[in-house]
Amino acid sequence: MTTTLITGANKGLGFETARRLIEAGHTVYVGARHAHRGREAAARLGARFVQLDVTDEGSVKAAAEFVRADAGRLDVLVNNAGIAGARKLGRVGEVTGSDMMTTYDTNVFGLVRVTHAFLPLLEASDAPVVVNVSSGLGSLAATADPSRVEFQVTLLDYNSSKTALVMVTSQYAKAFPAIRFNAVDPGYTATDLNGHQGTQTVEEGAEIIIRMASIGADGPTGGFFDKTGPVVW
Ligand SMILES: NC(=O)c1ccc[n+]([C@@H]2O[C@H](COP(=O)([O-])OP(=O)(O)OC[C@H]3O[C@@H](n4cnc5c(N)ncnc54)[C@H](OP(=O)(O)O)[C@@H]3O)[C@@H](O)[C@H]2O)c1
Repeated sequence: MTTTLITGANKGLGFETARRLIEAGHTVYVGARHAHRGREAAARLGARFVQLDVTDEGSVKAAAEFVRADAGRLDVLVNNAGIAGARKLGRVGEVTGSDMMTTYDTNVFGLVRVTHAFLPLLEASDAPVVVNVSSGLGSLAATADPSRVEFQVTLLDYNSSKTALVMVTSQYAKAFPAIRFNAVDPGYTATDLNGHQGTQTVEEGAEIIIRMASIGADGPTGGFFDKTGPVVW
């Protein structure tokens, strides 16, 4: 039995990832900040619900204690919860320090809060895996290349938070060689995050998350992947 926690799994890419991993035989904990949304999603999926607001240290610690008492270990952690942030597209000069704090609190610090709290449970697994959901907008190479669509999307807080997330992934990978830590770019996917403007379905977007959540102990670590393979970052 593979025990998996997905943050922000009550909808969007996290929900689809949960659905597919349950199909593949995982026992999935649906992490959600709002209990009613999380319970409803878990009931639809046949998953377990755990209250988890990644910006709230107490909530994250309680979630780790809940999974410890329930399962004793964690095999797969998918750090999926994320926010679009201030949405000041192209208006870099209008982004405030407070905007940055808010976006990073979920997209970067939240990931570290969750990873930090669950490390002992991951270390109790025989083949622990962590998947951190970044974005092509977090790639320095893609956003600096005029031939790429990512070049057109200037979002100071969101893009830089997703870059930071990749470096955080790389540092964890070096520090914990027994745990497979990778970042992924799902691609532009129709979800609430972008008002359903994304060009892919959630089934397509979740593909790389599922693939990297399913690697074994001999899989890659410290990388950044999209559906076509390694991402240049
Ligand atoms: N969609 C895309 O095109 C795209 C592309 C690249 C990367 N991504 C990344 O993919 C991930 C999933 O996004 P999505 O597109 O599926 O968006 P979504 O449908 O808006 O889902 C985001 C999820 O994160 C949760 N969340 C937000 N803040 C949270 C917090 N403080 N604590 C716990 N959960 C929180 C949301 O919960 P609530 O329902 O309570 O708000 C929701 O479940 C994000 O990290 C996003 O940056 C998305």
